[in-house]
Amino acid sequence: MMAALKISGSMSTALRSSNYLLSAKFLMQIHFTRKMSTDAHSIASQLNNSGLLRTQGLIGGQWRDAYDGKTIKVYNPATGEPIADVACMGGRETNDAISSAFDAFRSWSKITAAERSKFLRKWYDLLMAHKEELAQLITLEQGKPLTESMGEVNYGAGFIEFASEEAKRIYGDIIPAPLSDRRLFVLKQPVGVVGAITPWNFPLAMITRKVGPALACGCTVVIKPSELTPLTALAAAELSIQAGIPAGVVNVVMGNAPDIGDALVASPQVRKITFTGSTAVGKKLMAGSAETVKKVSLELGGNAPCIVFDDADLDVAVKGTLAAKFRNSGQTCVCANRILVQEGIYDKFANALLDAVQSMKVGDGFSEGVAQGPLINEAAVKKVDSLIHDATSKGAKVILGGKRHSLGSTFYEPTIISDVDNEMRISREEAFGPVAPLLRFKTEEDAIRIANDTNAGLGSYVFTNSIQRSWRVAEALEYGLVGVNEGVISTEVAPFGGFKQSGLGREGSKYGMDEYLEIKYVCLGNMNKD
Ligand code: SIN
Repeated sequence: MMAALKISGSMSTALRSSNYLLSAKFLMQIHFTRKMSTDAHSIASQLNNSGLLRTQGLIGGQWRDAYDGKTIKVYNPATGEPIADVACMGGRETNDAISSAFDAFRSWSKITAAERSKFLRKWYDLLMAHKEELAQLITLEQGKPLTESMGEVNYGAGFIEFASEEAKRIYGDIIPAPLSDRRLFVLKQPVGVVGAITPWNFPLAMITRKVGPALACGCTVVIKPSELTPLTALAAAELSIQAGIPAGVVNVVMGNAPDIGDALVASPQVRKITFTGSTAVGKKLMAGSAETVKKVSLELGGNAPCIVFDDADLDVAVKGTLAAKFRNSGQTCVCANRILVQEGIYDKFANALLDAVQSMKVGDGFSEGVAQGPLINEAAVKKVDSLIHDATSKGAKVILGGKRHSLGSTFYEPTIISDVDNEMRISREEAFGPVAPLLRFKTEEDAIRIANDTNAGLGSYVFTNSIQRSWRVAEALEYGLVGVNEGVISTEVAPFGGFKQSGLGREGSKYGMDEYLEIKYVCLGNMNKD
């Protein structure tokens, strides 16, 4: 037990301010298992009375254990230490959560848009009021640097704020009728109960990006967060309760992912599945949803090209590539996976990128100045290792890093490899780690051909100082997102989603609202008769 109480030196340094010292106590407590976490809960309550440490699922407004009492451990990827035991739920709990969401849908879908908007605004305010605690939870269970976690809270809460505003703008249409005694209307109505399955890389933002618009449209939700990062999801759900969102509108079940996924997909009461995660799982969910013909939105894997042309501004290209590649230690679906560099700037760019990557500090996300945290788990490290090994065995050269970091655990050295080609595994698969493969190209046509030579089509980046070229290339890229002279372009106000096997549908922005709506055509006939 004493070992579990230990907080690493680096973490305690970062937690020096008085606010953080309180949090340190809180963090120390949640190193314990479920029983001990009861104490953590009382300490967490003292933190602005937030009650943010939750380890049970949320069903119909009640915090519930797994029905068979099973729990699952959540680990800190920076230390490998257990943080907490959370309820390990499965099909039975999911079915009850679906029933609660189904019952709640009757009233939630009937209240006015203005009322839903107010609930969402209150939830947004609470998320922002608890920004520090949420960011700490994100860093603790996911590993990203605390400043990045703070950014994720802003980003994630932004989806709730946007949805609260957009709730009031779900307009229908009046269509000019082809016959004089008819009136034609289009109504937009909520699709029903939504199953939202979310990943570990953005423990907050991937939930709010789905739940915000779902609730704004009048849908109710059953959320299944990743079993690797459920604590942030549960904290956000707790804040939804504090915001007054009625029982059953937001439900959370976690634990046995296949059982929960199967129950969500099989239920005729669930009318929509929204998923962010691997392409393989997305395909299964899509196939499973066919049985009950559900609406499906999928945000799946990417293979983002980052194209640097000879005419690019070198500083802008290096800064943008660094952000596009190393955000969250390379663990985002839109991280640059292949860096295509034109031959005239290749050496200059490689050297400048080397300098920039070398200066990034690797460490525990709670330590001051850290830019690169650990990878999520051992499997992630092995994947990165095997892709680098495959590339070097086929002629690529490691010019920086290329191995586990001396910090141990799941830390990996930020890596650059040169002389990569588009046939190597590292160019065909999503690395999801801090490795930047450089590919050389000659012409604009070559760059477009190589960039599009993949089944994926989510994020892409172009660095050029030519306006004409930026239009040409942006139009030619078969990708849902194109950043021109920018490495991080995600925002709640713009549509996020992929072409090809990167997914279906869009999240965020006004386009993201449509995913949770049915369109109903109403024809009023015999208008000339009284
Ligand atoms: C993702 O990795 O799936 C999301 C990344 C983002 O929202 O920018």
